[in-house]
Amino acid sequence: MPTAAELVDRLTLVVPDFPEPGVLFRDLTPTLADAEALRAITDELVGAFAGGFDLVAGIEARGFLLAAAAAYAAGTGVVAVRKAGKLPPRTLIEHYELEYGSAAIEIRAEQLVPGTRVLVLDDVLATGGTVEATCALLERAGAVVAGVGVVLELAALGGRQRLGGRPVHALRGV
Ligand code: PRP
Ligand code: HPA
Repeated sequence: MPTAAELVDRLTLVVPDFPEPGVLFRDLTPTLADAEALRAITDELVGAFAGGFDLVAGIEARGFLLAAAAAYAAGTGVVAVRKAGKLPPRTLIEHYELEYGSAAIEIRAEQLVPGTRVLVLDDVLATGGTVEATCALLERAGAVVAGVGVVLELAALGGRQRLGGRPVHALRGV
């Protein structure tokens, strides 16, 4: 049976010059559309932090797909970390820089009971700006980041170094 990393290698598309010239974009949508890959990825991300979290947070947009599957598999709830302007008040907001631009993300402040251990999931860790902002938001809300799980880590962009020693599990590094 292929491993999650093998399925990621086989199914992920590499798209030059998207969303702007010079960016080599890894598109995980075909990977997540494959039943065997979705199951293998979910099982590995949940297994890496098994028993260590009470809630899963998914980062918009592809992180939502992973987070709901992982929360279901682990028997927890799921929260959406959304791009700014999508959630009704009251929200907490963080601004951050990306490989290709800048953005801001929000969570509903009252969704988190202080001390909740949260597993943060996303498809790709690149510069780390998105995950760093997510961790900052969750911690401002009183939660504890139990770990960060991603499918692909673009290691050359140094994202892991921005995460201050928080546990990170990447299925695949490129
Ligand atoms: C991508 C990706 C991560 C983030 C990684 O999302 O899904 O969330 O960038 O980049 P970073 O490590 O440099 O912060 P994107 O912001 O393109 O948004 P989308 O999922 O809504 O398309
Ligand atoms: N794929 C998806 N998201 C990303 C990428 C990528 O290659 N680089 C930065 N964010």
